[in-house]
Amino acid sequence: MKITKPIEDILNKQIAYEFEAAYAYLSLAAALGSTPYAGFAHWMRLQYEEELEHAMKLFDYIQERQGCVKLLKFEYPTYTIKTPLEAFKIAYDLEVENTQHIHDAYALSLKENDLPSQVFLQWYITEQVEEEDNCQKMIEALELAGTSLGALFTLDRQAGSRK
Ligand SMILES: [Fe+2]
Ligand SMILES: [Fe+2]
Repeated sequence: MKITKPIEDILNKQIAYEFEAAYAYLSLAAALGSTPYAGFAHWMRLQYEEELEHAMKLFDYIQERQGCVKLLKFEYPTYTIKTPLEAFKIAYDLEVENTQHIHDAYALSLKENDLPSQVFLQWYITEQVEEEDNCQKMIEALELAGTSLGALFTLDRQAGSRK
């Protein structure tokens, strides 16, 4: 069954939001890259790749449903941050915002009685819970570490081992 126009529109918007998130993470990776925290920079860069995958999953789905992919303009966020804590707070806020976009898309799929899109979007709903939690945990750990260089070094090493 071909996708409806309202669903096609909201999923195309979601592609742009995922690219926006990808670009934001890349920007945070760049900012952290000019600090001694190579591990956190690596973490952000992997997250950039994940966001691109989220965008491409939507891209494929729209085409599978005989819809038309439209690449919309998106914001190009750039950040100047001084600490990893600042970077993860930005990432957390970004994820919360994106969760709202996903929930809006899901609500529309209910309204449109589009069952395949409901199933498709459930993956994103679960993913958002995980991504918010990842950022939140990192914020808590960084807040606990405070200004202890030893603790920060350990956390950076852990972040750097992310695959
Ligand atoms: Fe995403
Ligand atoms: Fe995300």
